[in-house]
Amino acid sequence: MNTATLVVGIAELVQPAAKEGDGRSPIEVTRDAALLFAGGIIIAAGPRATVAAHPRAHRAAALDVGGRAVVPGLVDSHTHVLFAGDRIDELARRTRGETYESIARAGGGIARSAAAVRDASVEALVDATLPRIDSMISRGTTTVEAKSGYGLSPEAELKQLRAISALAALRPVDVIATALAHAIPPEFETERQRYVSLFCTEVLEVAAREALARYCDVFVASIAFTPDEARTIAAAARALGLGLRLHVDQLADDGGAALAAELGALAADHLEHTGAAGRTRLAESRVIATLLPGCALFQADALWPDGRALRAAGCEVAVATDCNPGSSMLTDLTLCASVAATRCGLSLEEALWAVTCGGARALGLLDRGRLVPGEIADFVVVDAADWRALLYWPGDSRIWGVFKRGDRIFSGDRRTDEDDA
Ligand code: NIG
Ligand code: FE
Repeated sequence: MNTATLVVGIAELVQPAAKEGDGRSPIEVTRDAALLFAGGIIIAAGPRATVAAHPRAHRAAALDVGGRAVVPGLVDSHTHVLFAGDRIDELARRTRGETYESIARAGGGIARSAAAVRDASVEALVDATLPRIDSMISRGTTTVEAKSGYGLSPEAELKQLRAISALAALRPVDVIATALAHAIPPEFETERQRYVSLFCTEVLEVAAREALARYCDVFVASIAFTPDEARTIAAAARALGLGLRLHVDQLADDGGAALAAELGALAADHLEHTGAAGRTRLAESRVIATLLPGCALFQADALWPDGRALRAAGCEVAVATDCNPGSSMLTDLTLCASVAATRCGLSLEEALWAVTCGGARALGLLDRGRLVPGEIADFVVVDAADWRALLYWPGDSRIWGVFKRGDRIFSGDRRTDEDDA
């Protein structure tokens, strides 16, 4: 039997609730707690005395976290982290008044990143992405979704998916891959239907056959795919056993939330422009509503998504970084949680739920996000006794350690000479 580890010295243990939105607190905080795990799986978690009395605790190795708070490992459920090059000049153009949409229509945006991806090898894509993954880990992320979508040809989309799977083997985080229909390549503008078919047969079929993706995503917008095109792609994904997630209502309220409900998407992401009718449809259909507040932080002309209204409508709300070179150049999920609280109307407790259990639910993962027995031992030790310090320092890290399946994969000890004296 694996030696167990007993984590002691936990000032606050934060356990997100399984379900959200029925008036209960989104998280439960136990003071003076302990956590017991073995083989990367949680055996017991809760009050110190109760956990210490567990039979497996007796011969366990002790890990003393010194009076700090412990929260679940963070789950970033929406990213475009694998890309090549940058789009710094587009940031500069936006500060001078151009919009994301006008830059895209003038040949910038996704097409720019696609050109860079097409010229890069799998190895170069992986090398460019590893520092971003390392940065995510240092901010507490232990599971990350990664999309294709900068290929814009079947070969390059598959190259991106292969690079994502190579990346997954190089770092201890779990990487969940999604094949994204992101834009119609300019050369297909007059025969859009042909690209939609190619995407279904030459990207999705191969991705499903070779297990290169678990999900399919479609960017539904005036500069990307129409609702009907999304319906075609969603039907192909469903037939192949791929789950569905959608980018909707990012640039306008164009019925994307209702479409996500109609298509039974697991998650509907962005939602900056979603109105009351869309919010109701998401709630009725139990689609996870994912806020990507990095977009409004990064782009002056983007709206903050209304997390408060989505919760009031009855939605479960997740928060993700949307890490990408054009609309949200961010790797820090704690920063996104922090601004989801200050700008999107979530409480700190709701924001923490959104980046732990919410992210896990948005990826269909039931084995993480709550720190309960049977789950994998992914957790973050906050460098403070109060767990809220994690969200109190936007852009700065208050993380002492990040643990993946019980192994410490990041150490951020801020101990000073004074502490040592
Ligand atoms: O989620 N909206 C579409 N996709 C990304 C942006 C991608 C890009 O600009 O490169 C997003 O914001
Ligand atoms: Fe996105």
